[in-house]
Amino acid sequence: MTGRSCLTIVLAAGEGTRMRSSLPKALHPVAGQTLLARVLAAAPSGPGTSLTVVVGPGHEAVTDEAKRVRPDVMTFVQHERLGTAHAVLAAREAIARGADDLVIAFGDTPLISADTFARMRAPLQTGASLAVLGFRAADPTGYGRLIVDNGRLTAIREQADASADERRITLCNAGVMAFDGKTALQIIDKIGNANSKGEYYLTDAVSIVRASGLTATVIETSEDEVRGINTKAQLAEAEQVMQARLRKAALDAGVTMVAPDTVFLTADTSFGRDVTIEPYVVIGPGVTIADGAVIHSFSHIVQASIGRNASVGPYARLRPGTSLGEGARVGNFVETKAAVLEAGAKVNHLTYVGDAHVGAGANIGAGTITCNYDGFNKYRTEIGAGAFVGSNSSLVAPVKIGSGAYVGSGSVVTKNVPDDALAIGRSRQTVRDGWASRFREMKLLAKKPKSG
Ligand code: UD1
Ligand code: MG
Repeated sequence: MTGRSCLTIVLAAGEGTRMRSSLPKALHPVAGQTLLARVLAAAPSGPGTSLTVVVGPGHEAVTDEAKRVRPDVMTFVQHERLGTAHAVLAAREAIARGADDLVIAFGDTPLISADTFARMRAPLQTGASLAVLGFRAADPTGYGRLIVDNGRLTAIREQADASADERRITLCNAGVMAFDGKTALQIIDKIGNANSKGEYYLTDAVSIVRASGLTATVIETSEDEVRGINTKAQLAEAEQVMQARLRKAALDAGVTMVAPDTVFLTADTSFGRDVTIEPYVVIGPGVTIADGAVIHSFSHIVQASIGRNASVGPYARLRPGTSLGEGARVGNFVETKAAVLEAGAKVNHLTYVGDAHVGAGANIGAGTITCNYDGFNKYRTEIGAGAFVGSNSSLVAPVKIGSGAYVGSGSVVTKNVPDDALAIGRSRQTVRDGWASRFREMKLLAKKPKSG
């Protein structure tokens, strides 16, 4: 928004007791990102904006998350949880600096967009002292109701304080408010706690604005954008909304999914052209999938980059630090972690590749294990370009298999293998002609006395 400076305060104090969790509410994830990260990413940013988060005492993890997402953030601690207005005043020092706009958002309303924040600030330019974000709730239970009289917002009534008639109102408070910075602090300072919960409700700002002869106005948005998360059921609903959005965006971007409802995505998933994702795939944070790649069913992928025309699964697990080159193949029941597979490398069946580099065109046979951990430290396995590792081999790291080298099936490889060499590390096979028939004869004879 041109010209006007803006301070955004995100309220994220409190355990969120109805979540029944030891994790602070703002740190629960939706589509692979914390509730807080989503709100902070949407909050006004750029020149003239500043950002503050109010956290509960002992919630360093919330502070850390805020700083991770927005390193410029300031944080304040609300030592006692006495209500949303009380939480805002924990950031008094930041408010007193006097930004033109003061935007308040909640850390438990994760689906809000940057566009909505911008819409909220617009009425302040044309003389409103307060803009409240409202929505029509399918079930308004638990939300503050917006009391509108002759088209004017006159008050917000919290569920606990609402009359039976007021409870029938479906126009609800989403929690986001934009104050004109000139009067914000005066108004919020006037909020008392004479209500059924004895809390300082930020929502009382509306009636105070009205009583002061100033204007409060409602900006409406869809319920899906402002679902507040107080319970695990609401968290799951928000996840559904978010997944639907992400699936639609992926389809719009040209990803082929025959059963999009079974595919789980993360907000930061990036897709090239002509990517195919088969049913029942889970894609966690930090995944990029390049042009033409195919992810087969039942694969689970986190922090991995998948090269052009690569193929993953079915039933593959790509863990953090996996990078697949062009045309690389990772097949069924294969797990990779911190593993680079160069172009055309193949790991097709029943294999663990961890802390490893696999050169271009190398072929890793079924049942190969990189033994990367001795109970204390992790070690690396290097497999050269064009190498061939026979099935059921254990590569005991640290170890290098040279380019073009062969490893005989069933080997336990503990020493480096030079380029183009053959390594066999297994017990030698012996063959005894006629042994099996002699064995059977002997056993049959030994059995005879019983029947006589
Ligand atoms: C709040 C609104 C309600 C609105 C709903 C939308 C108030 C009084 N009520 O109710 O009108 O319909 O959100 O989702 O504002 N918080 C603090 N410190 C506190 C209290 C709350 O930081 O002392 C934070 C919470 O962590 C949360 C946010 O403020 O992120 C809202 O608090 P919550 O308890 O979830 O309020 P609701 O009952 O959902
Ligand atoms: Mg809430």
